[in-house]
Amino acid sequence: MATTDNTAFSTLAQISDLLRDEPLKKYTSFKIGGPADLLALPNDKQELQRLLKKAVELKIPVTLFGGGTNLLVSDNGIRGLVIITRQLTSEIGMTQTDSHKKTICVAAGDRLSTVCRFAINHSLSGLEFAAGVPGTIGGAIMMNAGTPSGEMSGIVDAIKVLDRKTVAFKTIEKKDLNFSYRKLDLTDIIVGATLTLKKASLEKIAKNFEQTLQQKNTTQPVSVASAGCFFKNPVSGKSAGELIDQAGLKGAKINDAMVSQSHANFIVNINNATCKDILLLKQHVQEIVFNKFHIKLETEVRVEGE
Ligand code: EPU
Repeated sequence: MATTDNTAFSTLAQISDLLRDEPLKKYTSFKIGGPADLLALPNDKQELQRLLKKAVELKIPVTLFGGGTNLLVSDNGIRGLVIITRQLTSEIGMTQTDSHKKTICVAAGDRLSTVCRFAINHSLSGLEFAAGVPGTIGGAIMMNAGTPSGEMSGIVDAIKVLDRKTVAFKTIEKKDLNFSYRKLDLTDIIVGATLTLKKASLEKIAKNFEQTLQQKNTTQPVSVASAGCFFKNPVSGKSAGELIDQAGLKGAKINDAMVSQSHANFIVNINNATCKDILLLKQHVQEIVFNKFHIKLETEVRVEGE
């Protein structure tokens, strides 16, 4: 970080506990990523608001992280301020809408797994697709996280955001949200959401969660560092995993970056892979799949940094 930015550091450090030149590999499931010039983990919405206000005044670029589970951060890291929202958690609340539908209020930093547990405990259906999906609510909504059996857009009712321009909080209703496959078009910062779930039989919900989780644990490399599925599934035809598998790429390696042996759409960091290793392997996979099937695989994982 340039020495001229000392002012930025001391100003922002008055608002939040600030880390300087902090390695981002500590905050990503890939365990990859160079330093953030400045890193803050605000404890509440007000602290986040004060940080953003100052950063805007000082013209410091701000990058947001949630659980860091779908991110590939460059080896040079990220300039400016990185804000991680995982500490913006809440007591999950429930408001009855009618006898079948229930709306729950969640915060950006609530873990998806915590919200799934709440749903099971209250016999609420709708989140079964998210069983075993890591990360936070904020990240899951930003990425429209999902599986073939459901995605966040199907249950989000409204989101509460911090407007990046006005630095004020506002609510955006679902009808005004532009969700697409693994994406929400949004520049503002999510701080919370309301989700609509349905009352259903506890036995059925619990069984569904259990089956989804078991399926995931047996078909995916859940205990190895990765960012989940690396490529988007093509709109029709074979899935990315099938294409990569049939191209004979399972086990393909560049240094410590490897195409998983258990699920070909996972690129795993088997020890000390760099972002460069992952990107070279990604390119190799894209080229081989393209040569064999004439399909261009697109990255699902978000790449951040310079
Ligand atoms: N397959 C292979 N070889 C492989 C992997 C998969 O032949 O190495 C075949 C499977 O046998 C199956 C088909 O490909 O016939 C689809 O595989 P799978 O059921 O695993 O689903 P997927 O489309 O690869 C999607 C999501 C996953 C999610 C699973 C849950 C995407 C890109 N991926 O995977 O999400 O967990 O469904 O069923 O939508 C993620 O988004 O990070 C992620 C992992």
